[in-house]
Amino acid sequence: MSNDVLVVHGGTPLKGEIRVRGAKNLVSKAMVAAVLGDTPSTLHDVPAISDVDIVRGLLELHGVRTTMSGDQTLRMDPTNVVIAGVDEINVHAGSSRIPILLCGPLLHRLGRAYIPNLGGCNIGGRPIDFHLNALREFGAVIDKQPDGMHLSAPQRLQGIKYTLEYPSVGSTEQILLTAVLAEGVTELRNAAVEPEIIDLICVLQKMGAIIKVHTDRVIEIEGVDRLHGYRHRPVPDRIETGSWAAAALATHGEVFVRGAQQADMMTFLNVYRSIGGAFDIDDGPDGGIRFWHPGGELSPVALETDVHPGLMTDWQQPLVVALTQAHGLSIVHETVYERRFGYTAELRQMGANIQLYRECLGGTPCRWGRRNFLHSAVIAGPSQLHAADLQIPDLRAGFSHLIAALSAEGTSRVFGVDRYITRGYEDFDAKLAALGASVERP
Ligand code: EPU
Repeated sequence: MSNDVLVVHGGTPLKGEIRVRGAKNLVSKAMVAAVLGDTPSTLHDVPAISDVDIVRGLLELHGVRTTMSGDQTLRMDPTNVVIAGVDEINVHAGSSRIPILLCGPLLHRLGRAYIPNLGGCNIGGRPIDFHLNALREFGAVIDKQPDGMHLSAPQRLQGIKYTLEYPSVGSTEQILLTAVLAEGVTELRNAAVEPEIIDLICVLQKMGAIIKVHTDRVIEIEGVDRLHGYRHRPVPDRIETGSWAAAALATHGEVFVRGAQQADMMTFLNVYRSIGGAFDIDDGPDGGIRFWHPGGELSPVALETDVHPGLMTDWQQPLVVALTQAHGLSIVHETVYERRFGYTAELRQMGANIQLYRECLGGTPCRWGRRNFLHSAVIAGPSQLHAADLQIPDLRAGFSHLIAALSAEGTSRVFGVDRYITRGYEDFDAKLAALGASVERP
C-alpha cells in the first residue's frame, strides 16, 4: 500500500477522549457462534476493524447473510449455511486465526468443513495441536493438505472429557463452539477463563446452550439439539483500553477512554498505579476510565504476563514503552508467547535500553525458559527516545511503535499502519486527531 505510512511528530502529550467498542477478541468469536443458530443473530457495538471484515467475508462465503447498520450493529442470518469453495476461501488464508473456530459450527451444520491455513501475528509458533486433538476426540475426521484442512463428521459429534495442556484461549473457544451441539456432556479442564470467553459463554447461553463454569478452570457443557440466534452487546475492548492508557502515560498526557470498564481491567490498573500512572473510574451509564500521567517520576516494576486473571500478554508491549520512561530497572517476563519481544529492536534503535534474556527473570519458571527462548526483558530507564523509521511487525507491537514515536523527540515514519494497526484499532487516524497527536499521512 503506497500510503501505508504515518508520519509522527513526537513530543506532544495525548490529551482528550476516545471511545472503545466491543472487544475484537469476543466480536470475531460471537460472529462464528452465529453460524450455530438456526435463526438470525444481532451483535451490537461491533468495531470497524479489518479483522471483523475478514470474519464477515468468511461468513458470507458460507452463505451467512450479513448486514451492518450505521450504528455498527451487525445482523447475521445463518439460515442457508453452505460449504464455501476451497478457492474462494483460500483468499482468506494467512489473514486471521478465526477460520479454525468455524470447524465445530460447520461440522454440526453441514457435516464437513474446509479450513485454510491460518494467519495472525507472528509472536510465536502458534500451533493448533490442542484444537485438532480435541476435534478428533469429538469424532471429527481431519485430512491435512498443504493448503489447509478438510474435516468431516461421519456422525453427530460426541461430548468429550478433555484437559488442555495449557489454558489456551482459542482452544477453549473451539471446544465450547463444538461441545454446545455435540451429543452428551463435555467436561473441559484447564480451560481459559478470559473475560471474552465468559462473554462468549453468555452469547451461547442466549442461544440455548447449557454451560456451567465451575471453579478451578473446569467448564461443563451439556450438548443440546438446536440453538437459535442471539442479540448481544459485547464486553468492551480491554486491549485497546490498555493501549491508550499506556500511550497517555508515555506521552505525559491524559486520555479518557469512554466505554472502558473497571472489572476486566483490574490487573492492568494495579500495574498502571504501581508504575505511577493515575486513573479515575466513571461507572455511570456512558462512563469510562480516565488515564493520565500525574507528573513526577515513574517507578520501575517487575511484571509477568499470564492467562487471565494474570496480566494479559497483549498489554505487555504498550506497557514496555511506558516503562522506558520509568526511573530504574524494570523486568518483564512473557509467559504466554515465546517470541513477543521482537518489537524491542526498534525501541532500542530509538534509544531505549532494553536487554532480552532466555531465563525466566523475576517470576516463576515457565515453558519458554526450559526451551531457551528470549522471553524476558530488562528495561533500564528513563531514556529519551528519538525519532526513527519504524516497520510494524504485528498488531500490538505496531501500536507500541506508535506510542514510542508519539513520545519521541523528532519526526518518525511508521510503516505498516493500515496493514496491521487497523486490524484491531478502530478509527485510528480519527482517534489520534481527537487526542491532539501531531501526525500526517504523506
Ligand atoms: N497453544 C498451543 N497449542 C494450541 C493452541 C495454543 O500450544 O493448539 C499455545 C500458543 O502457542 C500460545 C498459548 O497456547 O503459546 C496461548 O495461545 P492462545 O490459544 O491462548 O491464543 P490465541 O487464541 O491464538 C488469543 C488472542 C490473542 C491473545 C491470546 C492470549 C484472538 C483472535 N487472539 O489468541 O490476541 O494474545 O489469545 O490472550 O482472540 C491480538 O488481539 O493481537 C492477539 C494476538
